[in-house]
Amino acid sequence: MAWMDYLREIPDFPEPGVLFRDVLPVLAVPDAWREVLDSLEQQVRPLGAHVVMAPEARGFLLAAPLADRLGAGLVPVRKPGKLPDPVFRERYTLEYGENQLEVEETTVLKGRRVVIVDDVLATGGTVKACAHLAERLGAEIAGFAFLIELKALNGRSRLDDIEAPVLALER
Ligand code: PRP
Ligand code: HPA
Repeated sequence: MAWMDYLREIPDFPEPGVLFRDVLPVLAVPDAWREVLDSLEQQVRPLGAHVVMAPEARGFLLAAPLADRLGAGLVPVRKPGKLPDPVFRERYTLEYGENQLEVEETTVLKGRRVVIVDDVLATGGTVKACAHLAERLGAEIAGFAFLIELKALNGRSRLDDIEAPVLALER
């Protein structure tokens, strides 16, 4: 089976009206997980990124092995209250609520090419917040990469003002 065959769709989770795509079952199947990482690596390598950045929590699962394959650095962007001050903080909205993301102000990213990676592109709020944090740290956005783009939510248009490619393995 291909990796997409292991995706689960759950109606009305985490709240009524949301059709939730669950990527975690894909990671449990060695061949499917390797296929995901191979495809991501193939798509992202040409971007020439020095660093992979990803939001907590599911983004971390992809970003760490991808960074290792690319020989790139890794910048995990955290949910509120997890990092010691001083931090840069961005508030954002997503399909089911709002939240904040933080990075340490001392993160060394100035002049670095950063690719932002996550499991799902929904409304785009999460990765847009990551991109703003990367820019505040002086980085250049090399691109965005996702396992799944939920086209109906039009997250791609939210990233229009950032001049960087938006890659997705599945739409
Ligand atoms: C999910 C998903 C993306 C984001 C996509 O994370 O992993 O990060 O939402 O939504 P958006 O494009 O509308 O911003 P969630 O905040 O649920 O956190 P989790 O990874 O900790 O489960
Ligand atoms: N799946 C996973 N994460 C998400 C989704 C989804 O369908 N929508 C917004 N974030």
